[in-house]
Amino acid sequence: MNPSPSEELVIILDFGAQYTQLIARRVRECRVYCEIVPYDTPVSEIAGRAPKGLILSGGPASVYEDGAPRCDDAIYDIGVPILGICYGTQLMAYQLGGKVTPGVQREFGRTELDVLDSNGLFAGLDKHLTCWMSHGDLVETPPAGFNIVARTASTPVAAMENRERGMYGVQFHPEVVHTPWGTEVLRNFLYNACGLHGSWTPASFIETAVKEIRAQVSSDKVVCGVSGGIDSACVAALLHKAIGDQLTCIFVDHGLMRLDEGEKVRQTFEDHFKIKLVYVDAEERFLNRLSGVLDPERKRKIIGEEFVRVFEEHASQITDAKWLGQGTLYPDVIESGTKNAAVIKSHHNVGGLPEDMVLKIIEPLRYLFKDEAREVAAELGLPEDMVWRQPFPGPGLAIRIVGEVTKDRLDTLRHADDIVVDEIKRAGLYRELWMGFAVLAPIRSVGVMGDQRTYDDTIVVRAVTSQDAMTADWAKLPYEVLEKISSRIINEVPGVNRTVYDISSKPPATIEWE
Ligand code: XMP
Repeated sequence: MNPSPSEELVIILDFGAQYTQLIARRVRECRVYCEIVPYDTPVSEIAGRAPKGLILSGGPASVYEDGAPRCDDAIYDIGVPILGICYGTQLMAYQLGGKVTPGVQREFGRTELDVLDSNGLFAGLDKHLTCWMSHGDLVETPPAGFNIVARTASTPVAAMENRERGMYGVQFHPEVVHTPWGTEVLRNFLYNACGLHGSWTPASFIETAVKEIRAQVSSDKVVCGVSGGIDSACVAALLHKAIGDQLTCIFVDHGLMRLDEGEKVRQTFEDHFKIKLVYVDAEERFLNRLSGVLDPERKRKIIGEEFVRVFEEHASQITDAKWLGQGTLYPDVIESGTKNAAVIKSHHNVGGLPEDMVLKIIEPLRYLFKDEAREVAAELGLPEDMVWRQPFPGPGLAIRIVGEVTKDRLDTLRHADDIVVDEIKRAGLYRELWMGFAVLAPIRSVGVMGDQRTYDDTIVVRAVTSQDAMTADWAKLPYEVLEKISSRIINEVPGVNRTVYDISSKPPATIEWE
């Protein structure tokens, strides 16, 4: 494990709950740094990190099951406060000599909760609350020394505390939005039980990260690819703050970016941050390779391959570079089993650099969630446009042109897309949407403009809301916004006489059209 980037570390032992990442995010929202580790991490390793508190996550198992995940009993003796959540509470009760009953009746969903003692986890909260429950087993009798501090109609021990020993357990889920006051419970644990102060801020992260980057790379040279997206922009700005001119960024402009986007990226890094930037205008190269290609998967493959090739060519010219900066974020790290090697393989754009150019990977954001990366980027002075940019696919506008990608069609789409985004921003809806953009359909239709018959292109407007892009709903944009978008596109974009709105959700549709 790496040394903690904060003085105030809380370790979350993961017992396999679907909500574990959410616990980490809530803890971070309390400005406390935390990391998720597997439940069977050796106690000596955990104690060696000198955490100020531990959280035992939920999990799908029952403590009585064969092979149920179980942490070492010695965890309760390392002398730091511990909070159990759901399965974590059942396990704590079981390991410390209490009684856990396999659920006779499962409790799931919103549940009324009565608080019996407001001096610990429930300090400052009402006596009657609504919480979110999702469990089968339950604690029937807490271990000796514990008090029952909350209950529900079917859960006699909805929360238990042994304040003297700093042991706490809740059967409900404080981390989910359906427990609206849940963050208060976590805050009480972190601030009151663990005595933390919330020192994890973007500024403190930057200070520590800068020191670590300097220690890690020393006087070596670093290359970093930038795309205009938040992750790579944040890494570049952070590396630059730490090592200045030792950093060279490479921006491959494949000509498939949105209106003026390439130039904005160049201005931000080169003019504003004074970062050494290799700006590669590769539009012609990409368009040549895409000429006559209609199949979406082939488009993606060609763009991916060409991107790597162009990046390699330019990276290999920076012959004294030793490191490659990457914008890997914490969810990627967690999903890749917290193993460095796996992360690099599955999450980086730049496969196969020349063999003699063995670059070591530096990933200074690998402990940040996306919203934290945005905060850090803002603190580093990146423009708001970049900090809050909606996701944009690597293959760019090529997968939003159904059919052949040509310079003319790209220009038409760029123009229309700019209007869509502009009107969404004017309506104050930009941050509420996962994405809002235009697609150029392979359809021409008849229209009438002035007294002239037209036979022109069709623009599809697509706007979706989503949490994680796995599922998405089509956005119910106000009619006035749609009307404005439509009339502007038809009036302002040459060659377009029809605008339609995509009202498909994902699944069964996808967000992009190709
Ligand atoms: P779909 O169309 O699969 O998109 O519903 C889900 C999210 O992923 C983005 N996307 C991509 N991002 N390279 C990327 O970097 C790609 O090839 C790619 N394809 C889709 C898409 O924009 C949406 O946010």
